[in-house]
Amino acid sequence: WAAHLPYIDAINRLKRERGAVILAHNYQTPEIFHTVADFTGDSLALAQYAARADAAVIVQAGVHFMAETSKILSPEKTVLIPDLHAGCSLASSITAADVRLLKQRYPGVPVVTYVNTSADVKAETDICCTSGNAVQVVESLGVDRVIFIPDQYLGKYVASKTGVELILWAGSCEVHERFSGAELRDYRTQRSNHVDGDIHILAHPECPPDVLAEADFVGSTAAMVAHLDKQRPRRVVMITECSMSDNVAVEFPDIEFTRPCNLCPHMKRITLPKIYETLLHMRHEVTVDPAIAERARRAVENMLSLSS
Ligand code: 13P
Ligand code: SF4
Repeated sequence: WAAHLPYIDAINRLKRERGAVILAHNYQTPEIFHTVADFTGDSLALAQYAARADAAVIVQAGVHFMAETSKILSPEKTVLIPDLHAGCSLASSITAADVRLLKQRYPGVPVVTYVNTSADVKAETDICCTSGNAVQVVESLGVDRVIFIPDQYLGKYVASKTGVELILWAGSCEVHERFSGAELRDYRTQRSNHVDGDIHILAHPECPPDVLAEADFVGSTAAMVAHLDKQRPRRVVMITECSMSDNVAVEFPDIEFTRPCNLCPHMKRITLPKIYETLLHMRHEVTVDPAIAERARRAVENMLSLSS
């Protein structure tokens, strides 16, 4: 941590000078998450916070679609991202033209879009969702068929929980699709004779169905934290991005975390030195075409009005 201290001090000073807040996703590294972030959370919480933040400048410690969502909800604010190449395999799996074709093919079927998409794709959408509210969003429509894009695994999970027929897209998260059910069964076998009891497995709904079938709890990153807070299991495996367990372990020193994880290379593009450079030079500004932003905002606000 000694190497981080000069950056932490300089970032906290620059934040005050610039009137900026730093919004950090749960997958940011602990040295960002626990020291310079003003607000942390899952995608839903970050969107809710961006909508009500009163700072003039938002620095998004997360990936590009998250910065776009902040800009869509706060067009008057300056939204900066420390690395413009912090993308997402889900966001890059689908374009606005793809969505228009789906709508032509299934006329009248509502479109639910995961927030892990570009502003252009959100603009073609009836309502957005996050992993924290996808079931609620689909159920709120009261229909038996929905176009659900782009995460096929989140879609399969939502279909299993709602009974609604979902027309899916073949997108997936490059981090969560690498886990397997066999891997989870191995953790259980390795741990099953432990005196302190069995291991408790939490998995993110972006994981494939065979992984979710083996998990004790399925939920968004924020839902995982709430679940641990309530259940206080002794031993835990979190089937998600690496920084999640690192960050949560600080909050729950009484829980032992086994840490299999997959790194998100996009989230890891955000570092303390890059956050420092961002605030120093007020760069890389994220902008969204106002006409696109207006249509995308409707879809995001439709979601927020359900979750608030
Ligand atoms: P949540 O934090 O909303 O669960 O999302 C996970 C994710 O992959 C964000 O990129
Ligand atoms: Fe995208 Fe997956 Fe990385 Fe989240 S963890 S930003 S869904 S690639």
